Amino acid sequence: MQRRDFVLGAIGTGALSYLTPALAAMAAGGEPIPYGTCIRNDPLFEDPAYRKAVLEYCKVVVSEGSLKWGDLRPDRHTFTFEQADRLMTFAEEHGLEMRGHTLAWYGAMPDWTNEIASPEEARLELTTHIRSVVGRYKGRIKSWDVVNEPLSDFPKPGDLIRESIWQKHLGADYIELALRTAHEADPDVQLVINDYDIEQATDRGRARRKALLDLLRDLIDRGVPLHALGIQGHLKGDIPIDKSGLTSFVAEVKAMGLAILVTELDVIDDALPGPEAERDAAVAACARDFLDAIGAAARPERVLTWGITDQHTWVPIWFSRQDGLPNRPLPLDADFKPKPLMDVIQEFTHSFS
Ligand code: XIL
Repeated sequence: MQRRDFVLGAIGTGALSYLTPALAAMAAGGEPIPYGTCIRNDPLFEDPAYRKAVLEYCKVVVSEGSLKWGDLRPDRHTFTFEQADRLMTFAEEHGLEMRGHTLAWYGAMPDWTNEIASPEEARLELTTHIRSVVGRYKGRIKSWDVVNEPLSDFPKPGDLIRESIWQKHLGADYIELALRTAHEADPDVQLVINDYDIEQATDRGRARRKALLDLLRDLIDRGVPLHALGIQGHLKGDIPIDKSGLTSFVAEVKAMGLAILVTELDVIDDALPGPEAERDAAVAACARDFLDAIGAAARPERVLTWGITDQHTWVPIWFSRQDGLPNRPLPLDADFKPKPLMDVIQEFTHSFS
């Protein structure tokens, strides 16, 4: 029996008006939330098992690196689009949607950008880059993480916006400049601000939610073009999710007229127990808390994980385990076998269909 039939049978159609949005959508029928992953081109084009998994599970892809400044801009005058083009072509050939990530970020910046020495120069470089990159994929990439991780690590009055080459020269205004420039380059593109660690039940989590709400509200009040918030979802398996805090946060973002996307879900498992079954269950439970808390307030437009298999994940770069065991943050294991996290994602994305 489909979950939807089960729900309908269990509640009776007369009770529809009492359903949560997720259950009502499930009862009404419709498409599941499109699921996807970030992609590394090397395995995509060299490992048939990786490619098969992507095609089997995904409707959306985003490149893990090839649209970042570090990959696109070897020097001030050059754009190297080969790898991004390759993924774009693959996506189009297979009927997958491709998201864009990212135009203004503090990370993955080529060294030459440190030579940028004035606000005028920063404005010129940032706008030239955004016009060229958004313009190149106009009508093909329909959703861009325009600004990535704008918040300070632990936002405090006077320290709300993270240091970056853009913030150094332009202050917080770089955010508006990036959004306006992307909008001009492709007025139909969905403009997204993307950030992380807003789900935690900690003082830092609360500070980040508040700072993000203030930032979004200010941009909207001033008429800056912006369409969605990307909640990355690099969850720390050992830190509880503030479920009610996250639900009210999402409700407030939705009330501003913004869509919600889950853009980079994975569960960082460096501090979780070693045994696989126990660890996989904890990872799945953490993701379920996160998705359910978001789903209680809004239907996220997309759910993407930051990788699909434990074989290719950024997590060990920063969060390797002291016991030397490999990390298991993603929905498929290193042999492409689905883990409980995949069940959670499928159940969630289908619960809105
Ligand atoms: C990471 C990639 O996964 C790494 O391969 C790369 O070296 C650094 O960036 N938040 C983001 C992503 O928005 O762009 C980051 O991706 C992971 C954290």
